[in-house]
Amino acid sequence: MTSTNHDTQPLAYNGYHRKLTAEADLFLCGVTRGTPGGEYHRRFWQPVCYEYELTDLPLKVRALGEDLVAFKDLSGRIGLLHLHCCHRNASLEFGVLTKNGIRCCYHGRVFDIDGRIVEMPGEPAAHKLQHEVSQGGYPTHVFSGIVFAYMGPPERIPVFPTLDRFAVPGLKHVPGIRLELNCNWLQIKENAVDAHHTTILHVIPQMRGMDHFAEEFGNDMELTWAETPAGVIYLGVRQVGENIWVRSAEIYGANIHQINSIFETGQERKQASLPFMTFWTLPADNDRSVNFFISHVGENEAMPFEKRRELEVFGQFTDRPYRERQLIPGDSDAQESQGPINPIALEHLGTQDRGVVMFRRIVRRGIQAVQKGQDPKGFYLNQSDVPATFANDRVVARSELPDEAADPAALRAFGDKIARDYLQNPPMRGFIEKTLT
Ligand code: FES
Ligand SMILES: [Fe+2]
Repeated sequence: MTSTNHDTQPLAYNGYHRKLTAEADLFLCGVTRGTPGGEYHRRFWQPVCYEYELTDLPLKVRALGEDLVAFKDLSGRIGLLHLHCCHRNASLEFGVLTKNGIRCCYHGRVFDIDGRIVEMPGEPAAHKLQHEVSQGGYPTHVFSGIVFAYMGPPERIPVFPTLDRFAVPGLKHVPGIRLELNCNWLQIKENAVDAHHTTILHVIPQMRGMDHFAEEFGNDMELTWAETPAGVIYLGVRQVGENIWVRSAEIYGANIHQINSIFETGQERKQASLPFMTFWTLPADNDRSVNFFISHVGENEAMPFEKRRELEVFGQFTDRPYRERQLIPGDSDAQESQGPINPIALEHLGTQDRGVVMFRRIVRRGIQAVQKGQDPKGFYLNQSDVPATFANDRVVARSELPDEAADPAALRAFGDKIARDYLQNPPMRGFIEKTLT
């Protein structure tokens, strides 16, 4: 073919007519101080580092576009302060840890973990100045080896949400590793409800001879989605022999998502499956993010943990040879390649992208709520208000389908039915109640 008639073939060879760039949607994606999105993220506990990263030296951290220093003082208390000293702006990454906080390397001011000045060596006006100024600081909370910070208004601090799945008996919560991605936070979170990719991207390793996700992920899947009290879930319905396997993952609040085992095969019938991983995504800057995670490890896992860890982080950060990434791309390759801030105005969404659309709507509503002085979805002042979670694998007999019909519409309707059931009977409840009775 040498040419194309643009009138009769408008879609062929239309590179010349396609738009190449679009403005980033910073209302939706922005994370820095004083912006609508930045204020939104400052209503949630943000992961800033792993506790094991706090050693005998301070740790420089970037969070929500701010330079910070995290440290554990010699009394074992954790602090998170603005990086630049309030005296003459030297960086506290060069500070010295003390029993009562951190000492700036330049003129020796010591800051408590809440930022108040506790020492001003050689300063005759110390007593007065100490009451006039402090170093910016944020409250911290440690959960399962991850240090979280609340960077929002101190008058209204939400509870750190302890999710129902963390109370499932017999589980160990093993802190992960820092997964750094050169892209905006939103494209990382969206991936969790963009389930369509699990049947394509995560099947490539098998096609190329690598054992990664279970083979059954390649089975045809019908998708449905549901809004949950704290976020959104997808339900992917697949046939596996005589079974129907319904898999769900959830985005919870702005920055949490939970997935179930990547080794699930759908062969064994079950109402609920053990939690597998929980992720918190830190928006470091508009175009840089860090995933922190814990692995939920059951008592009788057949796979040695080192092997599991290797597989669960495969493709989750781009520190691999380029050729290998091209041959077996992972989530991080797809996510980073969307661009530093995915230009969503250039997208052409299909019917399988409903979860992405639902999540963006939740985020926009949350940003608008904060603009109006209200609390966004996913913000809770009390633990008793923290809703259930819904990431699960349910595997039932095919005979549970009405008429045993397994056409796409029937499978989607079955997914909707399971979603309604989950909202009445959260799947983790079974595990927890079993041990209470
Ligand atoms: S710059 Fe920190 S004490 Fe002077
Ligand atoms: Fe994925």
